[in-house]
Amino acid sequence: MKSMLWVGLALCLLVNGNPAFADKDLLMKHNCFACHGIDKRKYGPKLVEVAGKYANTADAVPMLAKKIQTGGSGVWGEDIMPPQPQVSDADAKALAEFILSLK
Ligand code: HEC
Repeated sequence: MKSMLWVGLALCLLVNGNPAFADKDLLMKHNCFACHGIDKRKYGPKLVEVAGKYANTADAVPMLAKKIQTGGSGVWGEDIMPPQPQVSDADAKALAEFILSLK
């Protein structure tokens, strides 16, 4: 029984020790998790896969920030990401930077 406590504590430290954790709030705020998982494919691509795809792309941050706001399809298949004009320029940039840091 006691060992379960240690496992729980270790998991807490692991999650809280991740510097990227705070930015998940922004993904929650804008409902991105409805279609995306960090490392699970839902309706949209896994966010770690997106990070991997653009790891060596110059200007990936402004490109993805724009795509987050205007939506689109055809890069990951036929599924469409709807336009999300409610996401501010600053939030879109922060989201793009966070996603690209995930690999
Ligand atoms: C209704 C479902 C849906 C929601 C909500 C959604 N997405 Fe997407 N997203 C998609 C789909 C589908 C794609 C694949 C589009 C494509 O193939 O071009 C995608 C692709 C992306 C990509 C990769 C773009 C590319 O060109 O490679 C990023 C980055 C992304 N989404 C971020 C976000 C963020 C951040 C949010 C929240 C503000 C969000 N998405 C909300 C469905 C969604």
